[in-house]
Amino acid sequence: MFPKIVVCGGRPLKGRVRINGAKNAALAMLCGVILARDNVVIDNVPDISDVRHIIQVITHLGVRVSWRKGDTLSINVPALRMREAPYELVKKLRASNLLLGPMLARCGEVRIPLPGGCNIGARPMDLHFKGLSALGARLSLDKGYVFARASRLKGAQVYLDFPSVGATENIMMAACLAEGQTLIENAAKEPEVVDLANFLNGLGARIFGAGTDVIRIEGVKELGRSVQYSVIPDRIEAGTFMMAAVATGGKVEIEGVIPRHIQPLTAKLREVGAEIVEGEDTLLVQRTDEPLHSVNVKTMPYPGFPTDMQSQLMALLSVTPGTSVIVENIYESRFQVAQEYRRMGARIKVEGRVAIIEGVPRLFGAQVRATDLRAGAGLVVAGLLAEGETEVSGADLIYRGYKDFEDRLIGLGADIRRNNAVGSGLAFGEKSDIGRRNITTRLE
Ligand code: UD1
Repeated sequence: MFPKIVVCGGRPLKGRVRINGAKNAALAMLCGVILARDNVVIDNVPDISDVRHIIQVITHLGVRVSWRKGDTLSINVPALRMREAPYELVKKLRASNLLLGPMLARCGEVRIPLPGGCNIGARPMDLHFKGLSALGARLSLDKGYVFARASRLKGAQVYLDFPSVGATENIMMAACLAEGQTLIENAAKEPEVVDLANFLNGLGARIFGAGTDVIRIEGVKELGRSVQYSVIPDRIEAGTFMMAAVATGGKVEIEGVIPRHIQPLTAKLREVGAEIVEGEDTLLVQRTDEPLHSVNVKTMPYPGFPTDMQSQLMALLSVTPGTSVIVENIYESRFQVAQEYRRMGARIKVEGRVAIIEGVPRLFGAQVRATDLRAGAGLVVAGLLAEGETEVSGADLIYRGYKDFEDRLIGLGADIRRNNAVGSGLAFGEKSDIGRRNITTRLE
């Protein structure tokens, strides 16, 4: 099935939208459960295809996972049946690299394929390997697989050359069951890292300082507490709706968020000219009558401007008067989407990691292709603000990270529909049960 999203632009978004649990936090936790000895219940897990894929992987390893009502997962972790994750499942998502640390800590050895995921440039794992080696793991690479072994990991001091989210999480999870103390210096400070640490502490881990540059982990023998934990709201999903609200000149209340986590985006959108009112767990986002202003942006590790919001911002800046500049410091291939915006009439010049955007009065609907998950979301934002009809192919990439995306945009007044290609069983333009039907069967 090759789903497409068809958008007729020009309608200001209005109303309220509730934000789901954070994809990246949920994925990390679903790898972290491998360390658990007891029952685990995780609430606010978004039912998106990346989550379903990671569930398939851990189910294969022997973890029992079932959906309860709504977005709650019930998990039981007996002794793991397998120490190897299958390539066919792992290649679908980058986050499966987060199995390395917990499987090594729990089983003493693991063999996993180097993971796949979004097509946004080289995504090496050297920092993961450096950290796990410092903890005493012996690692080797063979025919696309990583093989790691350690009888018992030993706490160590690890300095990360770059505050990698995945490396911080992998090392932190491995260190939970290591002998003695581990220090991760220049650690990633993303809210999802903090959420994972809180979750693991709920299971009985001893992690201190998550959210700062230095994380200290005191190893324990096992994580034996049963826990019920709720995933934080997805700041990128919230940001995407904020962007769509501003881009269409609408007024949207974003509910169920942690405004502090979205501050880097809120600040930038205010600079562009949006009016944003922060409540305790809401954000009211609207465009004023004033013209928008061009801005300069650099993507940075948290609390800098998130790379995962860069493509959506590019859509907005395409129609913002003046010249805006985006510097992409995290992923070198994230500007592939610029060529799709150009098809819609945008004037964007890309030189290496720099994109120069000359705002045009309007974009026009076109056939475009999602090059990665966030590029896909950005193209939908562009379609919402463009004149005429935009057809975004590669929509399956969007469903990796957004639950019920079209339905929720329809709830805000958008003219948007899903078009499944031949063989899907849906007629052209038929409104679908997004996010439930598209993906593989639910794992009960
Ligand atoms: C996570 C997020 C992703 C987000 C990214 C940056 C998940 C599942 N995904 O990805 O949505 O865009 O953080 O906020 O949580 N790097 C190395 N060596 C390594 C590891 C990373 O050079 O060993 C580099 C990468 O190539 C990239 C940068 O570090 O340039 C950031 O990567 P990292 O923070 O690790 O991102 P992910 O954990 O893959």
